[in-house]
Amino acid sequence: MTTEVLTVQPQAPALEALRRAAAILQRGGLVAFPTETVYGLGANALDADACARIFAAKGRPAHNPIIVHVADAASVLPLVAAWPEQAERLAQRFWPGPLTLVLPRSDRVPSIVTAGGPTVAVRVPAHPVALALLRESSLPIAAPSANRSMQLSPTTAEHVVQSLNGRIDLILDGGPATGGLESTVLDLSRQPPVLLRPGLVTVAELESIIGAVVLPMHASAPTAAPLPSPGMLPRHYAPRTPLIAIEGNATDEATRRRAAGQRVACVRFGPSSADALPVERQVDLPGEPAGSAARLYAVLHELDALGLDAILVELPPATQEWLAVRDRLRRAAAR
Ligand code: TXA
Ligand code: MG
Repeated sequence: MTTEVLTVQPQAPALEALRRAAAILQRGGLVAFPTETVYGLGANALDADACARIFAAKGRPAHNPIIVHVADAASVLPLVAAWPEQAERLAQRFWPGPLTLVLPRSDRVPSIVTAGGPTVAVRVPAHPVALALLRESSLPIAAPSANRSMQLSPTTAEHVVQSLNGRIDLILDGGPATGGLESTVLDLSRQPPVLLRPGLVTVAELESIIGAVVLPMHASAPTAAPLPSPGMLPRHYAPRTPLIAIEGNATDEATRRRAAGQRVACVRFGPSSADALPVERQVDLPGEPAGSAARLYAVLHELDALGLDAILVELPPATQEWLAVRDRLRRAAAR
């Protein structure tokens, strides 16, 4: 299949492009579109065959459920069997935005979307193109990140082309995804709620609205199969080049590898105190989580394309505000 790319204004996407994208979704096709976190690969969430095409295009294992995107909190109600007070309060505070809520599913959600499980993940994205597409299509849109399974999430339409060209119908190019990291995933089907994936909405922000949230390793066993959140598998979101995560300074590692004839890059966070490293490429990201998150995947995509022997990353501090960035780096480093 030929993948069409339509460029749209991020703030005011043209109606013609939205209509074309909506028509593709309505007939069961696949459309990649920007959200405020990363690009998503969308299909009609109520059409099991369309959702099966997502799994095929990505090479995604059937046991990994998909997030359903909706235009507003009211549109979640037909998809869930319960809408607890906690969900209402979080939705009022963080939607539209990078927070995904896992809730008991209703019968209307095809089981392929939930990987056969009893829950469904839902969120209202904050990107004008995503919201306009949801409204124009009048559909809930199932959308994982728009990359082949196990690859880095895309933050630009170009990344989507590199990963999925020829496998999907349309890409709406609305410029870079500004958030840069996937949404926070919170499981409200268990009490206390469990943080399945850290993201741009922090634990502190969640706890300020609903009280204690626990991390997966501290949660009691989930009541039902399948995997509680396959996105929490150790290896995920990875570049092809080996990524080496280092606590502290990378100078020794860089020196050792250079002596062994390797070509490496290094990524650091915050103002670099040390001198330039003995590496092919050095990238200094901002010493602040949101700014770093916004650029992290774009930098990793770029370094990955250089075909180096390794990407060294000096991990940012092990504090809660850096939880999401450290989480993605640890996964990218897992072999
Ligand atoms: O920011 C994001 O969340 C992006 C944009 C496109 O919205 N989407 C995204 O989707 O990152 P994906 O499929 O790459 O990651 C979804 C994560 C996976 O870890 C998946 O296992 C988990 O959410 N998930 C989805 N449905 C779930 C459910 N019912 N229960 C538990 N985890 C679920
Ligand atoms: Mg993904």
